[in-house]
Amino acid sequence: MPGTKPIRITDLTLRDGHQSLFATRMTTDDMLPIAAAMDGIGFYSMEVWGGATFDVMTRFLNEDPWERVRRLRKKMPNTKLQMLLRGQNLVGYRNYADDVVDAFVEKAAEVGIDIFRVFDALNDERNFIAAFKAIRKCGKHIQGAISYSLTEKRLGGPIFNIDYYIGKAKKIEDMGADSLCIKDMAGIISPYDAFELISQLKANLTIPIHLHTHYTSGMASMSLLKAIEAGADGIDTCLAPFALRSSHCAVEPFVVTLKGTPQDPGFDLGKLAEVDDYLETIIPKYMSFADTTKFSVIDIGVLMHQIPGGMISNLVSQLKQAKAIHRLKDVYEEIPATRKDMGFPPLVTPTSQIVGVQSVFNVVAGRYKMISNEVKDYFYGLYGKPPAPVSDEIMQKALKGYAKGHTPIETRPGDIIEPELPGAREALKGITDDMGDILIYALYPMTGLEFLKKKYNV
Ligand code: CO
Repeated sequence: MPGTKPIRITDLTLRDGHQSLFATRMTTDDMLPIAAAMDGIGFYSMEVWGGATFDVMTRFLNEDPWERVRRLRKKMPNTKLQMLLRGQNLVGYRNYADDVVDAFVEKAAEVGIDIFRVFDALNDERNFIAAFKAIRKCGKHIQGAISYSLTEKRLGGPIFNIDYYIGKAKKIEDMGADSLCIKDMAGIISPYDAFELISQLKANLTIPIHLHTHYTSGMASMSLLKAIEAGADGIDTCLAPFALRSSHCAVEPFVVTLKGTPQDPGFDLGKLAEVDDYLETIIPKYMSFADTTKFSVIDIGVLMHQIPGGMISNLVSQLKQAKAIHRLKDVYEEIPATRKDMGFPPLVTPTSQIVGVQSVFNVVAGRYKMISNEVKDYFYGLYGKPPAPVSDEIMQKALKGYAKGHTPIETRPGDIIEPELPGAREALKGITDDMGDILIYALYPMTGLEFLKKKYNV
């Protein structure tokens, strides 16, 4: 029996779970046999799509991403399906034109997405405008998310303090979000900060508050429990075989922890165990994608430098390519400096890559001797407005000789991007005129086209 105020639990196994542990490689065929059983658990929602899944499916799995949602929807009539949308970046790595945002959301809603969790890497709410409008138009649930970031070890300091988060949250509520999510992609929210933040959000907002955190640093179970004590409406978890490490808290311990309390979700442990048994049988297929370099389940490096786990593996491979892996320590020291120059962007896709790549350049070639195109676009304002002012000196260096102009834009990035669907439609002429396909091409002109050529045998 559930409690009087059961906590809403969003299961992440089929999206963030395998994205965090197995490089997003889980196939739809491995999801379907367990879909009906998962549908019967009683989750508030299941995140099954978005994030990196769309890219990985077309690039590596040779699977149609729209088809995955359709097939899951059929097997899961009782649970809301949720996706992670990177605001104006959708499921790509740059801001797209408004017509692409509009069509993408409409198509996602049509195939079966009910809840759109929308975030922006810079927490620039202007990057929510087009997506929120499109979600509202489809009559679906808007969950506005704030990327949780820190400059200190704990909540506070000049930028990412409690006022910053309350201010952002109120803006998101005013923009019409149906719920709010604190999205802690690096697993850096500590338990007492979670308590303080959720308490303040509950006092200042009327919409439900969810907390998303990763297990990476080892604090997540404590933080989710403190969030529940502070009145959080929802938490995100994974089924045990896909939990812990850089993934999420396991749901099963919460089922027992909350038993008999008002927040008791009322889940049946026996049913969960059945799903877990199935998941154990498919994991061997994906073990080659797991990080087995360390015995430790937690990464205490995150407690020291707040750099998300996914970013570290990218840094390591970039440094190896540059034959400079011995300089990893220097890169760890460079990242906060580069981040400061760039106005303290939260480290999440795509800013984590942009800051990471530039930090490696700065260490290997000398500070800003080499500047990536993405950093130039960033200083020009194409990703939006950073949380703090950028370094004027570095901005001028980056925009020297930059084709679009030397003065950063002040407008919403989406305002200066010409419609992109007509060009995508034209490029696929004679191959397909299906909107799902056109969107795949609009998002990834290179790898998307490769996928579509295979799909249509041309
Ligand atoms: Co996540």
